[in-house]
Amino acid sequence: MLLAQITDLHIKPRGRLAYRKVDTAQCLETAVRAVLAVSPAPDLVLVTGDLVDAGRPEEYGLLREILSSIRLPLFLMPGNHDARAPLRAGFPDHRYLGTDGHIHYAIEDFPLRLLALDSLIDGQGGGRLGAAQLDWLDRRLAEQPDRPTLVAVHHPPFTTGIGHMDKIGLEDAAGLAGVIGRHVQVERVLSGHLHRAIQTRFAGTLASTAPATAHSVALDLRPDAPSAFSLEPPGYQLHWYQPSAGLISHTAAVGDWPGPFPFFENGVLID
Ligand SMILES: [Fe+2]
Repeated sequence: MLLAQITDLHIKPRGRLAYRKVDTAQCLETAVRAVLAVSPAPDLVLVTGDLVDAGRPEEYGLLREILSSIRLPLFLMPGNHDARAPLRAGFPDHRYLGTDGHIHYAIEDFPLRLLALDSLIDGQGGGRLGAAQLDWLDRRLAEQPDRPTLVAVHHPPFTTGIGHMDKIGLEDAAGLAGVIGRHVQVERVLSGHLHRAIQTRFAGTLASTAPATAHSVALDLRPDAPSAFSLEPPGYQLHWYQPSAGLISHTAAVGDWPGPFPFFENGVLID
């Protein structure tokens, strides 16, 4: 099973650059082409939030247009830049999004079970799951204790060292750790929000963030780091699951890079 994770698309209304610098629609088109060129094809594509930049209906319209070339199972999650009602209105055929309240759901169709959570607090940068959603997660995990499971939440439940992002982290990360720590079948907690690839131990499992399809959050580990972005190579992650091997995660840069080139010629390593 192969899961492609893309995140932090930050789509703006057509023709508008994000932060006056980033053509996020073009970035997403390039990332989608890269994901569609992956062979073997992913079994599903998971988008871990910040689908658009300001939760506007027209942004979701453009997002839908760009994502329409993905003919694979596609699952969307909200981030802090999203708004639930316009997201649902833009994707009425995505029934798993539900009709009101938090957008959390379970995907049971694949060898690895997927539980997606909603950390959006309307109008705020930081995230929170809330007691009801944590209880939902606990009950879902208790249902199938032997089934390897991915938990996805836009805001990572750990401190990253990038000060301005940690100030808008996940408020109830300790609550999430309490739930995850009770369920050993959780293979990984997947997040976005940081626009960079980061990983750490978390509650007996691993937690990680994926690079964005657009701009990166600047890598600046000073506690008073200014809020800033950079135009590093964008990327996505491929999470490859085999029951015998476990969950193996690859980070891929999106771009027009030279290669691949052979290591060997006539059976001999090129010197
Ligand atoms: Fe973001």
